[in-house]
Amino acid sequence: MEGQCLPSFTLCLLACNPSQDEPEDLDCGRPEPSARIMGGSAAQPGAWPWQVSLHQRGGHVCGGSLIAPSWVLSAAHCFVENGTLEPAAEWSVLLGVHSQDAPPAGAHARAVAAILVPANYSRVELGSDLALLRLASPARLGPAVRPVCLPRASHRFAHGTACWATGWGDVQEADPLPLPWALQEVELRLLGDTACQCLYSRPGPFNLTFQLLPGMLCAGYPEGRRDTCQGDSGGPLVCEEGGRWFQAGITSFGFGCGRRNRPGVFTAVAPYEAWIREQVMGSEPGPVFPVQHQEPQPSPPEPTEENCTIALPECGKAPRPGTWPWEAQVMVPGSRACHGVLVSESWVLAPASCFPDHISSDYPPLDLDAWRVLLPSRPRAERVARFVPHENASWDDASDLALLQLRAPVNLSAAPRPVCLPHPEHYFLPGSRCRLARWGRGEPEPGPSALLEAELLSGWWCHCLYGRQGASVPPPGDPPHALCPAYQEEEEADRCWNDSHWSLLCREAGTWFLAGISDPSSDCLRPRAFSPLQPHGPWIGHVTRGAYLEDQLAWDWGPEGEETESQACPPPTDHGACGLRPEPAEMGVLWPWLAEVHVAGERVCTGVLVAPGWVLAATHCVLRPGSTTVPYMQVYLGRAGASPLPQGHQVSRLVISIRLPRHLGLRPPLALLELGSRVEPSPSALPICLHPGGIPPGASCWVLGWKDPQDRVPVAAAVSILTPRLCQCLYQGTLSPGTLCVLYAEGQEDRCEVASAPLLLCQTGGSSWVLAGLAVRGSRELFASIGPEEAWISQTVGEAHFLPPSGSPYWFPEGSNLCSAEMAGASGSPQAALLLLLLLLLLQS
Ligand code: ARG
Repeated sequence: MEGQCLPSFTLCLLACNPSQDEPEDLDCGRPEPSARIMGGSAAQPGAWPWQVSLHQRGGHVCGGSLIAPSWVLSAAHCFVENGTLEPAAEWSVLLGVHSQDAPPAGAHARAVAAILVPANYSRVELGSDLALLRLASPARLGPAVRPVCLPRASHRFAHGTACWATGWGDVQEADPLPLPWALQEVELRLLGDTACQCLYSRPGPFNLTFQLLPGMLCAGYPEGRRDTCQGDSGGPLVCEEGGRWFQAGITSFGFGCGRRNRPGVFTAVAPYEAWIREQVMGSEPGPVFPVQHQEPQPSPPEPTEENCTIALPECGKAPRPGTWPWEAQVMVPGSRACHGVLVSESWVLAPASCFPDHISSDYPPLDLDAWRVLLPSRPRAERVARFVPHENASWDDASDLALLQLRAPVNLSAAPRPVCLPHPEHYFLPGSRCRLARWGRGEPEPGPSALLEAELLSGWWCHCLYGRQGASVPPPGDPPHALCPAYQEEEEADRCWNDSHWSLLCREAGTWFLAGISDPSSDCLRPRAFSPLQPHGPWIGHVTRGAYLEDQLAWDWGPEGEETESQACPPPTDHGACGLRPEPAEMGVLWPWLAEVHVAGERVCTGVLVAPGWVLAATHCVLRPGSTTVPYMQVYLGRAGASPLPQGHQVSRLVISIRLPRHLGLRPPLALLELGSRVEPSPSALPICLHPGGIPPGASCWVLGWKDPQDRVPVAAAVSILTPRLCQCLYQGTLSPGTLCVLYAEGQEDRCEVASAPLLLCQTGGSSWVLAGLAVRGSRELFASIGPEEAWISQTVGEAHFLPPSGSPYWFPEGSNLCSAEMAGASGSPQAALLLLLLLLLLQS
């Protein structure tokens, strides 16, 4: 559509600006002939002469556009905080600037006399995000200071029109425009409302969708990458028509910057013609609404279906797991190839420790001429132009990263193709399918590639297992401290890929993300902890200006997500975490310390893992009366699941010795089984906690065992533990010291098969699980407690997980005058149960 300024405006401009000597140029929307924003570039000085910078307390806050000598158009949200308009006196307008570092000769500032905001403005998402600033004195118009043209209310800009946005805003999310702060420009395409709404109706960052409102306008690209960003607000989006620039929009907001399917949202200027006129009425000269010579062309109706173009991720697609199109090998003369990943057309990410001679600045400048990078499907090796180590790379394993820039960008296709990188708020869901991939100068893959398949454990489990008990677990959305993938246990347990480096790739909706890099400090602990990559996204983005940071693609947090939010870890022991149960959904293991004890190939009873190399079991189970030889015995861990576990997550160990405490005359009830090799902690095998002095105060207790000898899934029966005094009375003093009596909750008595010697477990306030005892032979109610054997266990095992003593013991100290006559007499009688229930009620109050 043709537009031309009213002749009266030209006259007026002349009148207001006597220094002007070229009247024909004194209209709107025409920069001097010659002549971030994210993904843009520095503009030519003077190319956008209406662009102004709005300063508050000496710093740039927002952009704006000059629409008349005394009027600047901007965004309301720049001036409204908590519902109140900020005083005009705090603001100043910089005109004719290009680089904010060194304002050119024609640049000048104006104080703001008034800020006007539509009465119905409340929040950006609700629209009407525009403001008018009346300057205290008119701007000095000149080659670098000219007004932009405004569209009439009836004006329609055609969808797909290429327009330009300008500003001094961030060049990426949280990445400010670097010095010399030169005005940035970016070409954005106008998106029809239907197309834009279609993009915003798909859940994106934070699982959010958004309803576009009248008076809003979208511009950008479904694939993202070019956009306005923080600090550009209030600045203009201009489109050229008939040789003039018209302001179609005012930068208002977006979801992040440059994200896929999240174009920038602008305040459409045309619908506010009346409001703008009203505000500036009477002031001379007014804004420049060019005369329309033609009737506005109705824009072609927007094809609803075709225009709904959703952009798919451009990174992280692999034809099949294991063949990684982003795999990069960096070759430096004199050392082995270093494995890294391609993160953009021009950048490779690799561990900085591959290049020890180049991390520190003490070394002579790099000679990168001889460096080469091998990428899949590339005929020749790429040459390297720059090496940028992470500033903390030399001392922080979690920052062991370096970026290498290729001399020439590669064409991205099926291969090479970059891997996706997570934004800081990315939350990899527990249960995500992941893979370990080579990283750095790692060893070759250990045998079958199935070994590299992994499943992500919950943040809670990982956090607590790694002994970060002090802090509570970061909620989803906060960067985790560690990522723990559960992968299959190797045949020889001692080999734990200790000094090999791995990267952790996790898949979401078929797209692979680089989720973490191996944390060498995690030793042989299992699952191995990985340092999350999330915190490094901004650094990688900042250096590369084009790495593929991709939004989270899976959002079905389910109950685990919420659970993680509030959970803290149980107290640690000297030997690390114990008694933690992974969330039920994972791996199907509910009781990671529950061991099946097999004698001569047959399951005979329950055992419990008390340390990486030790299982505790009832003596009567493992040593049959009369037999003196140690039978062929094996224990299995990681089997007690509700769902069949992948074989690889089960652990079996040979028992190499049976240890008994010294008990004069009697055969002691508890036996320790020494395992052929250690069982490192994992969600399928983790030691139980022990509590010095017996049952932790206020604990809830269960008897855990199998209901049927054939069962795999154990059952738990809720019980109460009687005080030793009551217990002894009931059994009229016939029990050996340390025997515990339990009372089953109603209907729970026969849940566990007696012959398998079930375990007695207790838990306090949602924290770790503690072993209280093992069933006494043939009894449902009597358990041999751990208490009396504490010294023997800690001496034999060394690494037993004794919790720090807490509170006073659960029961009263043993005394002489234990039983009243009535009590002793009551035992065994029908009244006994009643009496017990009564007592129990008293105990629990
Ligand atoms: N609200 C931002 C500001 O105050 C502008 C954000 C534009 N964001 C975008 N993704 N287009 O500067």
